[in-house]
Amino acid sequence: MTSPQAEAVIDLDAYRANIAALAACAPGAELLAVVKAEAYGHGMLPCAKAAREAGASWLGVATVEEALALRAGGDTGNVLCWLASPGADYDAAIDADIEVTASSAEQLAEILTTAAPTSMRPKVQLKVDTGLSRNGAFGEQWTQLVAAAASAQSAGTVEITGVWSHFACADEPDHPANDAQEQAFRTAVDELAAAGVAPALRHLSNSAATMTRPSAHFDLVRVGIASYGINPDRTMEHDVELTPVMTLQGRLAAVKRVPAGTSVSYGQTWSTDRETTLGLVPLGYADGIPRNATNRSEAAFGGERVPVVGTICMDQIIVDLGDLSAQRGDLVTVFGPGTSGEPTADDWAIAAGTIAYEVVCRLSSRVERTYRGER
Ligand SMILES: Cc1ncc(COP(=O)(O)O)c(C=O)c1O
Repeated sequence: MTSPQAEAVIDLDAYRANIAALAACAPGAELLAVVKAEAYGHGMLPCAKAAREAGASWLGVATVEEALALRAGGDTGNVLCWLASPGADYDAAIDADIEVTASSAEQLAEILTTAAPTSMRPKVQLKVDTGLSRNGAFGEQWTQLVAAAASAQSAGTVEITGVWSHFACADEPDHPANDAQEQAFRTAVDELAAAGVAPALRHLSNSAATMTRPSAHFDLVRVGIASYGINPDRTMEHDVELTPVMTLQGRLAAVKRVPAGTSVSYGQTWSTDRETTLGLVPLGYADGIPRNATNRSEAAFGGERVPVVGTICMDQIIVDLGDLSAQRGDLVTVFGPGTSGEPTADDWAIAAGTIAYEVVCRLSSRVERTYRGER
């Protein structure tokens, strides 16, 4: 088998170990592994399978389509999805025993209408907006959703299985919004219970709250970024041992020795100040390398840091290898766990003025994912 010229190597042993470490933070709760957006760029189906192997009793995705793709890929466990505009394929979701989220009475009505002709009773979780102002019912909308859910439950047309919300600032554990959101969530759950609806699953915590806020673990925690070995915020302190799961690497497509004063790449934004060796790595912004990290990032070659020089192109980047001996086909690591001298996804995020979530998620489908530790 020929080796790919560029690949993201996904370490499933690390992924399973991260999930186990996160589950240990919340021993009284179930764990939902968030595998939306192709498992944050790591590949949804292999990660979903590994998450189950690591004991995740739930998988979470944004869209109905993603949830259906999990079923098509053979997953038969609990799946929750949470983002749907009118016209979503609830029918298929309900038939596939996927749990859907209602963020308003109107959305609950749409789910129930769609479900009516099918044989299965829809399993619906209710989302309350406790301060993120994204999805979820807010204020009077919540009161309406509670009433609608109570009446559908009495009519036997729905099974309300969960109630949940999402933090805005959990990656800043001391932020006052966290206490306020947790309190708002408790109030919302009480309001629901007072209407006679007491679902078994109450959940609020993402990775950051799973690691730092036991009071918000409730019945289930939803872990995304930390399961991929990335700290939710680069400054956030915790004592959970996480290992980055993705290593992005490419094989040199060209190597050349050039004199001092040679300009490199579009716009001639960088020039050599000495005779040096340039290496061409077949990864560019079409693969997800952030172009605005131009002249600000590094890679690793043979365990040594080398600067990425000149404007980042659509399909390629150039590294300044100095006097290192290099040949076409040699491996350059763009980012990885950081344990062998290579930068991390977060180093690239700093260079690009973004967060590591975006660095891994934006990796395009052209980059082959190869898996280590498959069972
Ligand atoms: C609803 C929901 N829950 C949980 C998560 C996981 O968050 P994190 O990746 O910070 O753990 C996400 C991700 O954005 C989300 O949208």
